[in-house]
Amino acid sequence: MKFLLVAGARPNFMKIAPVLEAFRPYRDAHEVRLVHTGQHYDARMSGDFFHDLGIPEPDVNLGVGSASHAEQTARVMVEFEQVCLRDKPDWVVVVGDVNSTMACAITAKKLGIRVAHVEAGLRSRDMSMPEEINRICTDAISDLLFTTDRGAGENLLREGVSPEKIKFVGNTMIDTLLRHIGRARELPLPAGLAGQRYAVLTLHRPANVDCEDTLAGIMEAIGGIADRIPIVFPVHPRTAGKLNGSSRHPNLRVVEPMSYFAFLGLVAHSRMVLTDSGGIQEETTVLGIPCITLRENTERPITCEMGTNTLVGRDPARIGAAAAAVLEAPPPSPRQPELWDGRAADRIVELLLHEHPLPC
Ligand code: UD1
Repeated sequence: MKFLLVAGARPNFMKIAPVLEAFRPYRDAHEVRLVHTGQHYDARMSGDFFHDLGIPEPDVNLGVGSASHAEQTARVMVEFEQVCLRDKPDWVVVVGDVNSTMACAITAKKLGIRVAHVEAGLRSRDMSMPEEINRICTDAISDLLFTTDRGAGENLLREGVSPEKIKFVGNTMIDTLLRHIGRARELPLPAGLAGQRYAVLTLHRPANVDCEDTLAGIMEAIGGIADRIPIVFPVHPRTAGKLNGSSRHPNLRVVEPMSYFAFLGLVAHSRMVLTDSGGIQEETTVLGIPCITLRENTERPITCEMGTNTLVGRDPARIGAAAAAVLEAPPPSPRQPELWDGRAADRIVELLLHEHPLPC
């Protein structure tokens, strides 16, 4: 069989890497090609991750770059359609919830190619998030839906997905974490942090960073927390241009986006994380690092059920109070949600190889 694996943006790379690796023993019998849509293109957002994770150069790079949602999605679809027409894959495998995920799923499905979605069924029920729209559209048309937890499967059943399409396999992003955590922990921390108590901050959601007043409120709360503990803030390019001096605090260290190992090591040694990311909520659960999520909702409720993640929204007073509570409590122990055992990608590849090709 022929498989096209798709990755487009930073959070996709750690999810696709173990799937590529799990295909390795079968590559004599099956063709596996990696397509990078080019949604993320800076070395710090893309190339460094390929290097850290040992992902081979993509077979195809669509080079779509940044644009409005419609334009970026459309560019991916136009370019990916040509790849599908040329390669005629049996399966297109997409991961996560970025624009590239949805664009490639729709393109493949309309050409009659079967689609498998890794990380299916997560729902924030917040339709103002572009990712929620991407998740719903991708899941509605996928032929195989690989889920990270039982709650995601229940979401899909409620939406009318037939049970035989849903496969609970675990979390490929955690496969990657478990594989590399030892090495990441040993990397030197940024100057002055070794042996220190510090927190980590990431912010990139449009709902948090695109409105000046909202961002100013969040940064005011962060300033209050930085009075108590140093904070390292690797800044996403979307956020970088919008800070307008609000990140000036002697205890807040603003740095460029970090590579996978450097960031994982930074989080693993930290006292707490403040974030609006999806994936970091899961990584902190496995690492046993308290996570304060600066969002009103999460598509990953399992991280709250495990007791490592607290949703606080964007209200500065709530953010400050949650951080104070975390700093006063003993840190949680690492948690292992069901099947987050480092073998999710093996299960995915097993299942894909046992699905029969469609008749011509
Ligand atoms: C995208 C995903 C989001 C994911 C995030 C991780 C969608 C809808 N959103 O958001 O789910 O959490 O990636 O980073 O797909 N830029 C660069 N260099 C790059 C890439 C982007 O400078 O390599 C800048 C550009 O100014 C661009 C902006 O970042 O306009 C936003 O990039 P984009 O890919 O549109 O969305 P993200 O906010 O990164």
